[in-house]
Amino acid sequence: MKEEIKRLRKEKNAVILAHYYQTGDIQDIADFVGDSLALAQWAAETAADIIVLCGVHFMGETAKILCPDKKVLVPDLNAGCSLADSCPADKFTEFVRRHPGYTVISYVNTTAAVKAVTDIVVTSTNAKQIVDSFPEDTNILFGPDRNLGNYINSVTGRNMLLWDGACHVHEQFSLEKILTLKEQYPEAEIITHPECKQPIIQVSDFVGSTAALLRHTIQLDKKQFIVATESGVIHEMKKKSPDKEFIPAPPNDSTCACNECSFMRLNTMEKLYNCLKYETPEISIDKEIQVKAVKPILRMLEISKQLGL
Ligand code: 13P
Ligand code: SF4
Repeated sequence: MKEEIKRLRKEKNAVILAHYYQTGDIQDIADFVGDSLALAQWAAETAADIIVLCGVHFMGETAKILCPDKKVLVPDLNAGCSLADSCPADKFTEFVRRHPGYTVISYVNTTAAVKAVTDIVVTSTNAKQIVDSFPEDTNILFGPDRNLGNYINSVTGRNMLLWDGACHVHEQFSLEKILTLKEQYPEAEIITHPECKQPIIQVSDFVGSTAALLRHTIQLDKKQFIVATESGVIHEMKKKSPDKEFIPAPPNDSTCACNECSFMRLNTMEKLYNCLKYETPEISIDKEIQVKAVKPILRMLEISKQLGL
C-alpha cells in the first residue's frame, strides 16, 4: 500500500500534508508533517494539483479556502473537531452582531462559515503575537476556545471577550494523574498545549502549540518530558530526539495512558490510499463563503510571514 500511495502521489501530482496528531504510518509517508499553521502555509504555496490533507475537516477546509481551484481531499470526511463543533456559525454570527466595534479573532479550529465573519484567523503558534499586534485599547472578541483565549489574555494582559468553546481532548487531561507522573519522574518537564485547562497550564514548565512543543523538546537539554497534548506528536518527538523519554499525560476518564483525538484517528493508511486512488472524498465550499473566509486567513499568513513564523 505504501508503494502504491507513493506511485499515485507522483502520477497525480498530489501532495500529502499531515498533522502531528495522525498515526505514525501516515506521518511517515506524508510529504510534510506540521501543526495547523504549517499546514495552511504549505497548502497556500504548493504547486500540486491535488492536496491530500491528513487531518480533520477544518484543516481540509482551510486548504480549500486558500486553493479553491485545487482538489482537496481528506481521507475520512467524518474527521470533525469538537472545538469547531462548539461554535455553530449561526450562533457565532449572532454573537458578532451583538458586539459592533469589536475585532473578531478566530482560532483556525472553526468552520469556513465562522471564518467568513472573522477579521483575522490565528493558530496556537501565532495567537499571542497577532493579538499583541493590535493596539491595547482594541476591543477583541475571541473564539471559539475559552482555554486558549484565557491563556492569551493572561500572557498579553488583554481582556478579550471569549466564546465558550473547548476541545474535548485537551480538556480531558487529569491534573491529579499529571502530578502523580511528576512525582514518578521529578526531572521531567511538563509541556502543555494551550487548549488545556488553566490548572494544567499552571503546573506546566512550558506551554505552546504542537510545533512549539516539538521544538522545545529538541532544544532543551532535558531527558524526560510529560506531554500534555494529543499523543500523536510523540511520534515526531521520538524521531527528533531518540535519546529522550516522552511520557504521555493521561486523560481523566479512562484507564488509557495517553490521550488521542478520535476524529484525527479516523484517517487510516487504507483510507489515504483509497482517497488518492479514487480522488474522493473531496472538500467543497460555497463560493460566497470562500471569498469571505479567505481574507482573515491571508491576513494571518501575511502577519506570520512578517513575524518570521
Ligand atoms: P496546533 O496544530 O495548531 O498546535 O493545534 C492543535 C490542535 O488541536 C489541532 O486540532
Ligand atoms: Fe479538534 Fe481537539 Fe481533535 Fe484538535 S484535538 S482536532 S481541537 S477535537
